[in-house]
Amino acid sequence: MRVMVVGGGGREHAIAWKVKQSPLVDQVFCVPGNAGTAGLGENLPGDPGDIPRMVAIAKDKRVDLTIVGPEAPLAAGIADAFLNEGLSVFGPSKAAAQIESSKLFAKRFMKKHGMPCASYSAFEDYDEAVAHVKAQGLPVVIKADGLAAGKGVFVCRTWDDVEIALRETLLDRRFGEAGDKVIIEELLPGQEASLVVITDGEVVIALPSSEDHKQLLDGDKGPNTGGMGAFSPTDVLDDALLDRVTREIMVPAIRGMAAEGKPYRGALYAGLMIADGKPHVLEFNCRFGDPETQATFPRITSDLVPVFQAAASGSLAGMKIEGEDNHSICITLASEGYPGNYRKGLEISGLPECEKLDGVTTFHSGTKEVGGKLVTAGGRVLGITAVGATKEEALKRAYDAVDKVHFEGKYFRRDIATRRAR
Ligand code: AMP
Ligand code: GLY
Repeated sequence: MRVMVVGGGGREHAIAWKVKQSPLVDQVFCVPGNAGTAGLGENLPGDPGDIPRMVAIAKDKRVDLTIVGPEAPLAAGIADAFLNEGLSVFGPSKAAAQIESSKLFAKRFMKKHGMPCASYSAFEDYDEAVAHVKAQGLPVVIKADGLAAGKGVFVCRTWDDVEIALRETLLDRRFGEAGDKVIIEELLPGQEASLVVITDGEVVIALPSSEDHKQLLDGDKGPNTGGMGAFSPTDVLDDALLDRVTREIMVPAIRGMAAEGKPYRGALYAGLMIADGKPHVLEFNCRFGDPETQATFPRITSDLVPVFQAAASGSLAGMKIEGEDNHSICITLASEGYPGNYRKGLEISGLPECEKLDGVTTFHSGTKEVGGKLVTAGGRVLGITAVGATKEEALKRAYDAVDKVHFEGKYFRRDIATRRAR
C-alpha cells in the first residue's frame, strides 16, 4: 500500500512513523514533511492548503490512502475534493470540520445535543460584548469564532483582560475573519484532559487518553503555544470517567453530526474539563492533537493503517485499538523567543545519541537538512518522547534524552507531566 500524510509538523511525523511500521505499507509520502519524515519515506513539496496539488500528488503517486494532519486543509474541504476524485482519505468533510472551524457552530451543536459544556453567548459588536461581560461578571473566557492557530482563546480574570481580548479580536481584527464574532463563555474550573476517538461516522474507538501543556512557562504560565509537551495516560480520567466521556460526549457528537447531515469520519478530538467529577467538553478538534499524538501513538501496539482505512470507508465495526499498559511523556524542544520571534538555521547535534536511549523516540517539528546538517527551521523544533513502565520512569528517560540534544537557544519546560490540581 502507498500512504500519504499531509502536513509537516511533529504530529505528522508521529503519524508517518506509525504508518511506516505497518506490514501493509510499502511506501510513505509526506507533503511537505520535515527532516524526520524524510527518513521514513519520500517528502514532496507542497502546501497542505493547496488542495488541487494534494489531489494531483495522490493521483500521480498512486496513493491508496491519504491521512490529513492539520485542521486548515480539512476546513477548506480537502476530504471532499479527494472523495470527488474517488480517492480514499482519512479526515472529515468541510461541513463536518466545522466542529472545529466555527466555535459558534460547535457550541450550538453541543447544546442542541445535550453535551455538558460551558454556557455561552455570541457577539459581533464590541459594545454589546462589553455590556454582556459587565452584566455577567468576571471571570469569562472569550474566543474568536474561527480558526486562529490556538491563539484565539482568552481566559479573562480582569477587566484589562476583557478589554484586550475584545479589542484585539473585534476591533483590531488580529485574527481577520476568524474574529468576526466572539463567543463569551463561563469559566469552568477543573482539570483538563484530551481524548481522541477514531470514527467512521457510526462506530467510535478511543485512543489512549492524554494531557497537553499549552503554556510556555513552568507552572502553566506565560503565553499559549502550539504545545510544550504532553503525556499519556492522564490520571484525570479513570475508567468510569472515560466511559462517561464516551457516552455523554463522543457518541452524542458522532450521532449528532450524522443526524445533521454532516456524517463525521476521521479523528475527533475533545478538549475536556473535569469539574466536580463531571466531564465537560471545552472544544472539539477535527484531527489528532499536536503534541498529544507524539505521546499517544508510541503506546499503541495495534496496526493503525487498517483502522484508518476502515474509518475512511465506513467499516470500523469490530475493530479494536490495543495499547500497552505503560506511560509516555513528550517534551517539546523549542527555539528561544518562541512563540514570538526566533532564529532559524541553528545546527542541531546529539540526536543519534538521544535516539539510542531505552524507550526514546524523537519526532521532528521544525527541522531541516541543509548541506548534510540538521538545523532548526521552526518555533517548535523537536518532540522527545519516552515510554516507561511508570510515569516516573518515562519522565526520567525523557529528561535524560532532552539533555543529549543541543542547539543554540534550546528551550523546554521542566515540569511536563507533573501538574497538580488547580
Ligand atoms: P480551546 O481552544 O477552546 O480548548 O481553549 C484553549 C484553552 O483555554 C483550554 O485548553 C482551556 O485551558 C482554556 N479554556 C477554554 N474554554 C474554557 C472554559 N470555558 N473554562 C475554562 N477554561 C477554558
Ligand atoms: N494540543 C492541542 C491541539 O492539538 O489542539
